[in-house]
Amino acid sequence: MSITTKELTNQKVWLAPLAGITDNPFRAICKECGADVVVSEMISVDGLLYNRDRSLEYAKFEESQRPFGLQLFGSDPDIFKKALKIALTKNPDFIDINMGCPVKKVIKRGAGSALMTTPDIAANIVSETKNILAPLNIPLSVKFRSGWDMFNINSLDFGIKMQKAGADMICLHPRTRGQMFSGKSNWDLIAELKKEVSIPVIGNGDIITINDMIAMYKQTGCDSVMIGRGVMGKPWLFKQIKKYLSSGNMEQITTEEKLEIIRRHMELMIFHKGEKQAVYEMRTHFSHYTKGLRGGAQVRNRINKLFDVEEILMLVEELYKAQKFEGNDGRY
Ligand SMILES: Cc1cc2nc3c(=O)[nH]c(=O)nc-3n(C[C@H](O)[C@H](O)[C@H](O)COP(=O)(O)O)c2cc1C
Repeated sequence: MSITTKELTNQKVWLAPLAGITDNPFRAICKECGADVVVSEMISVDGLLYNRDRSLEYAKFEESQRPFGLQLFGSDPDIFKKALKIALTKNPDFIDINMGCPVKKVIKRGAGSALMTTPDIAANIVSETKNILAPLNIPLSVKFRSGWDMFNINSLDFGIKMQKAGADMICLHPRTRGQMFSGKSNWDLIAELKKEVSIPVIGNGDIITINDMIAMYKQTGCDSVMIGRGVMGKPWLFKQIKKYLSSGNMEQITTEEKLEIIRRHMELMIFHKGEKQAVYEMRTHFSHYTKGLRGGAQVRNRINKLFDVEEILMLVEELYKAQKFEGNDGRY
């Protein structure tokens, strides 16, 4: 049965699409911690069309991850239409179109945030995609930034245009392409957009703590929130949020709970990718799991030279148990 836009956006907490991070195991971990909606890493429509199997790997997900959104990027409406049909064979709950990626490799193809400078092409992609999705009752979202640079902030006009073109929901990360990830996201632009469109708005950018999430809802009136960097190396933030939403209490997650989540993450990595690849790919995650911890840098260096799963996990356990300092953001 298909999911409705309302079910996806009624005060939901989304895991942001994060290339190189939100693969199958990480999404599973976030889902287990309480994320309501998860999205794939961005998948190239050209890749789907011409290099099917490798790109299709990114589109794989487990039933337990539903509602699952598949994020596509590209710049040619015709290729989009053809690739979409391939993507739909995976049966995602909704499709998200990436119009925010600031990376050179992507924008030089006219995709990602470059589409904010060509709104007619962007609208064409959305309407063509919508024509395919509407009869199937599959919702369509568009994720974008505040604009190309500080002289070209057009999130409001762009959002209105995407709505007219057929987007069922929109997600705004209010930084310009020029900002990449620096500075602060301008939540006022989310508030402005929310006032002017009738489709749900998902607020994104700089949610690191429960208090940030509360502030985002309050300041912008957004329908749902999306968290990216705040859960890299800290998927338990979803757990804290869920506890808070059900009880009103801001509880810390215990060291034991965190270690259990990390262990499970490794387990799922091994299950999906095999031990050798898991050890290799978990290095990125361990760099996040150990960030900001006393002695984290040394442990990171050691992990990067280790191949034995138990040895790695023991080291992380030792590091976590050695932390005495309790910070405000729940990291410790
Ligand atoms: C490592 C990394 C990878 C990202 N990959 C994607 C992606 O594949 N698709 C996308 O739309 N945004 C991507 N983003 C942007 C995030 O989804 C999000 O919009 C941005 O990080 C702001 O939210 P945050 O402050 O909660 O992290 C990525 C960000 C980071 C840091």
